[in-house]
Amino acid sequence: MQKSSHPIPDVSKIHLNQTGQTPFQNPLSEETFSAKIAEPCLLVIFGATGDLTARKLFPALYNLARDGQLPAHFACVGFARREKSHDQFRDEMHKAVGEFSRVQPVDENLWSTFHNQIFYHQSNFDDGNGYESLKSFLDDLDKQFGTKGNRVFYLSTPPKFFPDIISHLGKHGLIYDTNKEKEKWSRVIIEKPFGHDYNSAVDLQKFVLNHMSESQIYRIDHYLGKETVQNILVFRFANSIFEAFWNNHYIDHVQITVGEEIGIGTRGAFYEEAGILRDIVQNHMMQLLSLTAMEPPASLDGEAIRDEKVKVLKALRPIGMGHFSEQVVRGQYAPGFVDGEPVKGYREEGNVNPESIVETFAALKLYIDNWRWAGVPFYLRAGKRLPKRATEIAVFFKEVPGILFSQKNQKNEKNVLVIRIQPDEGIALRMNSKVPGVSSTIQTVKMDFRYGSYFGLTPPEAYERLICDCMLGDATLFAREDEVLSSWKWITPVLEQWYESPPSSFPNYQSGSWGPPEADELLRRDGRSWRLI
Ligand code: BG6
Repeated sequence: MQKSSHPIPDVSKIHLNQTGQTPFQNPLSEETFSAKIAEPCLLVIFGATGDLTARKLFPALYNLARDGQLPAHFACVGFARREKSHDQFRDEMHKAVGEFSRVQPVDENLWSTFHNQIFYHQSNFDDGNGYESLKSFLDDLDKQFGTKGNRVFYLSTPPKFFPDIISHLGKHGLIYDTNKEKEKWSRVIIEKPFGHDYNSAVDLQKFVLNHMSESQIYRIDHYLGKETVQNILVFRFANSIFEAFWNNHYIDHVQITVGEEIGIGTRGAFYEEAGILRDIVQNHMMQLLSLTAMEPPASLDGEAIRDEKVKVLKALRPIGMGHFSEQVVRGQYAPGFVDGEPVKGYREEGNVNPESIVETFAALKLYIDNWRWAGVPFYLRAGKRLPKRATEIAVFFKEVPGILFSQKNQKNEKNVLVIRIQPDEGIALRMNSKVPGVSSTIQTVKMDFRYGSYFGLTPPEAYERLICDCMLGDATLFAREDEVLSSWKWITPVLEQWYESPPSSFPNYQSGSWGPPEADELLRRDGRSWRLI
């Protein structure tokens, strides 16, 4: 199995400065960032005129080019339905990079070279002729750029187009048979959601396997490309002190929050089909949950890590019908104020049914039925139009016995370890401390590690890492079939139950609030409350 493409820095190259401290070495410097550069290849993006391409994929490609991480022989083709010339597409992508790249301003010298490696191919996704002409176009580009027939196809379209695109890629010989073709390779990145529920995900998987082998499938969940998400494993398994307490003897409960200030923006049509359970919980949150709760893997091999994550998902206790209302809350945002600005309710957004019952907020309480986590509740909440953008994992430790420092007027707060995934990436530990002075007042204080101030750089965007890994053939940070299916298996009964009993109170939370009151009630019943973020 392939190893991660980004090697551990060689400590022999880290020198002590005059003060005797070890200076931080920029991991993006030539010396330490990926010694591996992918083989020559062409990248074809389906859905190239969409939001994701402009906001994430092209800024990622530009930054990879900037950091010298693209293969020397490389070109990219945008495939979409709208008519446009190569130059129009290049100009649009230039503008997008200017707006969304993490590094600004755009290096115009670099762009003037990079832009010659960008092309556009117009076709409908279900039109066989479009794939035939794509094939000969790619063959020509191979000759021009020396890309040797290697291909990455990125499916960044609404999921309903996946089957058409995949079958045409297969039919037109664009996906190679791995048993016969050893000289060149083709890989397919599939955006989430992979399927609509458990059965459709199983069907999609079978369908995809008719056209390619599992090793060619890269199911993307961009959370796995985030530095702070990858750091969960380092934090847990490269430090001895935390792992010893990482179990039901010491941990009272865990809260995972994915909060967003934004609404659904221009994605009304998508959201009406998806809802937050499919958009965020089934994939991003399940990844955060499984990385937090998994056992140590036997090695850092991609399969070993994914084996352990799957075990967590398989151990999730199904939510029984009798416990449904105690364990699951859904919400939809009403108009309100975010950052002092008035914002629309979900039902007033473009392409949304004015009587829509789609959820934009979900809170869940779940249990992992294994030895480590028996009896420890995990509370998950995700929502659009919350007061702030904040993704974090908060681990609440059990209280000490109230024998020594529990006097009147003072309560020992639980120790809380917070892994801030974004923004303000970092890790904080809250603990109780004596306030200086003659009294014995106790106050909660915080030890805080911040990536930004410690490392002093903007980490690469998730998509940079993931595109790079796919070109290198490293699937470690992509979701495996059984991960996706196990997660759907747990979530699908929730969706079915929601479908059977439509909500009567939507919209039920104001934009700019932390969701419906039932979400607070979910914890209050257990004598707990959501962490104030
Ligand atoms: C996407 C969802 O997968 O993740 C969006 O489709 C959501 O609805 C986005 O806004 C959040 O990503 P990030 O990286 O901003 O947390």
